[in-house]
Amino acid sequence: MVLLTYIFFILLFTYCKGYHECNQKKTDYGYVCVCDSSKCDTVPEIDVSTGKFQMFSTSSNKMGFTASSGTLKPSSNTNFGYKIDLQNSSVKQKVIGFGGAFTDSSGINIKSLPEGAQKNLLNSYFGSSGVQYSLGRVPMGGTDFSIRQYTYDDHDGDLELKYFSLQNEDHVYKIPLIKKAYKLSNNSLNLFASSWTAPPWMKNTDMYASGILKDEYYQTWADYYIKFFQEYKKSGVNFWGLTTQNEPVDGFVPSLVFPLNSLGFTTAQMKKWVSENLGPTIRKSEFKDLKIIAHDDQRTFLQIFSSVWEDDDSGKYIDGVGVHWYWDAFAPNSVLELAKSSKKDLFLLGTEACNGAPVKLGSWERGQSYIKSIISDFEYGAGGWMDFNLVLNQEGGPHVILNPLDSPIIVNNSTGEFYKQPMYYAMGHFSKFLRPDSVVLEVQNNLTANLKSVAALRPDGLTAVIVYNEGSESAKVEVISKGGSVLQTSVPAKSINTILF
Ligand SMILES: *[C@@H]1O[C@H](CO)[C@@H](O)[C@H](O)[C@H]1NC(C)=O
Ligand SMILES: *[C@@H]1O[C@H](CO)[C@@H](O)[C@H](O)[C@H]1NC(C)=O
Ligand SMILES: *[C@@H]1O[C@H](CO)[C@@H](O)[C@H](O)[C@H]1NC(C)=O
Ligand SMILES: *[C@@H]1O[C@H](CO)[C@@H](O)[C@H](O)[C@H]1NC(C)=O
Ligand SMILES: *[C@@H]1O[C@H](CO)[C@@H](O)[C@H](O)[C@H]1NC(C)=O
Repeated sequence: MVLLTYIFFILLFTYCKGYHECNQKKTDYGYVCVCDSSKCDTVPEIDVSTGKFQMFSTSSNKMGFTASSGTLKPSSNTNFGYKIDLQNSSVKQKVIGFGGAFTDSSGINIKSLPEGAQKNLLNSYFGSSGVQYSLGRVPMGGTDFSIRQYTYDDHDGDLELKYFSLQNEDHVYKIPLIKKAYKLSNNSLNLFASSWTAPPWMKNTDMYASGILKDEYYQTWADYYIKFFQEYKKSGVNFWGLTTQNEPVDGFVPSLVFPLNSLGFTTAQMKKWVSENLGPTIRKSEFKDLKIIAHDDQRTFLQIFSSVWEDDDSGKYIDGVGVHWYWDAFAPNSVLELAKSSKKDLFLLGTEACNGAPVKLGSWERGQSYIKSIISDFEYGAGGWMDFNLVLNQEGGPHVILNPLDSPIIVNNSTGEFYKQPMYYAMGHFSKFLRPDSVVLEVQNNLTANLKSVAALRPDGLTAVIVYNEGSESAKVEVISKGGSVLQTSVPAKSINTILF
């Protein structure tokens, strides 16, 4: 009886706290947490009192967020282990946020699940017991992760955009899910729009793939953005920003090689379009406060495009620079310095990243690739980092042509289950604990190549220190707070950990 009562209280406590453990499953490449309509793991509640610290850990063989806690000591003279010292920390960039893209394919996959599982999935990304994504990228029309190629005005020569209209994909897969996500995030989800291509008739190729804008459609193409924001607003969705073009360099790759939606801009064309059309059109409109994010392409091309934000005429409209990670191997981290302007403060945001096909369910290495990219972008001043598709199926689709990719959440549409991969937990540590408006701290440490960390001061006054251990041994870490008190802990082998105090 005593035991039963005890079990009852444990269950009640677990229920009241709303915390659910990972239902872990071994897969070909590692481990995932399995969710469905009836169960899904959540993040344990943040509960830090004065003089204490809380640590959340995810490791290659233990998915989910495992919480532990401990006490800060007044000081330490021991040689405990690696040291992260915040005593003389200085303040760096502000955190903007983390998130993913509401592609058509993400919507199709989410809606392939039973209602309860959809709820658990959206809560995993956006809810208060999930990782609380604060950014969402919304493709304007189709992308490679759609089931057809389309734009919002495929009516030839429609200079006045009389035939502009949102499509079934917006009404069924994007708007309803965005609205649910927005609500789960307590209305604090910042959305930005990105276009893959202009309507074929505005382009010199007359195709969805490749090509540049015809001269006579420069203004029409800026007006198209306003139409998009107006239509979404009518549906109850408001935006925070836009990018000037998804991967403008793709537009110069011949369609035989790259048959995907794209629109090319040379640097000169981009400067002209931003300074004469997009910039003035946005700033004179009811959407004048939108953040205009330049580049939205590989960091490798920053050198070529940096005059877009350095130039007085186009640069005055630019608020930030977006980078994709796919060609990171071809340019050192230091090229991110080119995302800065000598004339004004610009934010830097990773606007798209993902791992390629096939889906490698449970791959820790893929989670690790996210963690390492986020940490190195943050060293160079990034304020946030975005994943690509929020959700894909087990084949890494659906997609327009055969170009499957991996995603942090994979649905099994025959069982109504979905799998949260290491990439989800990798994103989660940053998104959940480095809340928007936190300030990143420059700190002293003696970490080695296998250990990396990011520290930040959160708006709620807590300090967050993320410690990533790439090594196959656990490591002892000592963190010294701004005020000189000390916490000592051990981080598991192949793990990411967030310490809050
Ligand atoms: C880091 O520095 C602390 C204090 O100076 C020292 O005790 C510790 O041995 C160092 N750790 C490593 C791995 O160098
Ligand atoms: C912090 O800076 C102060 C003065 O700027 C210096 O005296 C002190 O030694 C520094 N402490 C550490 C731990 O570096
Ligand atoms: C939303 O607000 C509720 C009530 O104030 C709070 O419990 C919850 O944690 C918040 N959720 C998010 C995602 O901020
Ligand atoms: C379900 O997922 C499989 C891949 O696992 C895919 O081939 C199929 O088209 C999907 N079905 C639906 C209805 O989304
Ligand atoms: C998805 O569901 C199918 C059908 O029930 C099953 O055979 C398959 O193993 C499931 N996939 C995973 C990764 O569990």
